[in-house]
Amino acid sequence: MINPKVKVAVVGKGAIGSLIAYSCQQQKLDFQLLLKNNNTITLDVEKIDGEKIRVYPSSSDINDAADFDIVVFPIKAYQVLGALQQLSQSVRPKHTLVLLHNGMGTIEQVKALYPNNPIVAATTSYGAFKPTDTNVKETGLGKTHLGWVSKCRNNAILIESTISKLLPPSTWHQDIQLALWKKLAINSVINPLTAINNITNGELVNIKFHKLIHTICSEVSQVMTSVGYPTNSDTLQQSVLRVIEATANNYSSMHQDITFKRQSEIEFINGYVIKKGRELNIPVPENQLLFNKIKELEKI
Ligand code: PAF
Repeated sequence: MINPKVKVAVVGKGAIGSLIAYSCQQQKLDFQLLLKNNNTITLDVEKIDGEKIRVYPSSSDINDAADFDIVVFPIKAYQVLGALQQLSQSVRPKHTLVLLHNGMGTIEQVKALYPNNPIVAATTSYGAFKPTDTNVKETGLGKTHLGWVSKCRNNAILIESTISKLLPPSTWHQDIQLALWKKLAINSVINPLTAINNITNGELVNIKFHKLIHTICSEVSQVMTSVGYPTNSDTLQQSVLRVIEATANNYSSMHQDITFKRQSEIEFINGYVIKKGRELNIPVPENQLLFNKIKELEKI
């Protein structure tokens, strides 16, 4: 059922944001893109089955956004604060903020800036990339996990059903932190190792990476267990291997960031593990080494 009253705003026109714009158009939702300037754009989306669809989003300048109920941030973790600051004239306490990116640490930042807003945290396994500024290629059909970090008091069911349509199928969790930690464990292994070794995700099955993968998983599992999500290195390693196999031909987002000389999300991935390890007095030397190597690569 279409509900024209719920207005969705999507920050940016990145690969995942463009897939969301595609879903909004297909589902006939009332949506707009929030961009740095308000140029009219079209997006050419190629779905994984080869279907090609042109998306005609309406857009607003992010500094002067038209009205919305939900704003989705499918941008890099380190861009979230800046985007929220640009939106400061438009965000009202009733607006639901949806965080959707790799890594952890932004929830704390967003809560500090907007303590009264409903906040949803999400993680998705959809894969997509943009060969050009207006072309988007879907590379993997994924699933999306969502959960309220601060729940909205009114219309929660309507807001949930709208957000569920953005990257389906969607699963809502009572405690989204567990899903975020599980994804963080996967990213802590795959992202830096593929970027440092300049390889696809699939090449990590090579026996020479096994010990290292185990050590990273062991460090992350100790931190996870201490923050209240008991696990062990074998469990984490199995889920890492499942993702390596499912995304074998892909280059990870961090591999792409380093290759194209963009800032990586290391601060919010292994950097978050290090931060929590420090707070809890748990040594995480392998995560620290990976962090240092990526920081070096970012400078080249
Ligand atoms: O960041 C990425 O590339 C993805 O989250 C993942 C799961 C590592 C697959 O490439």
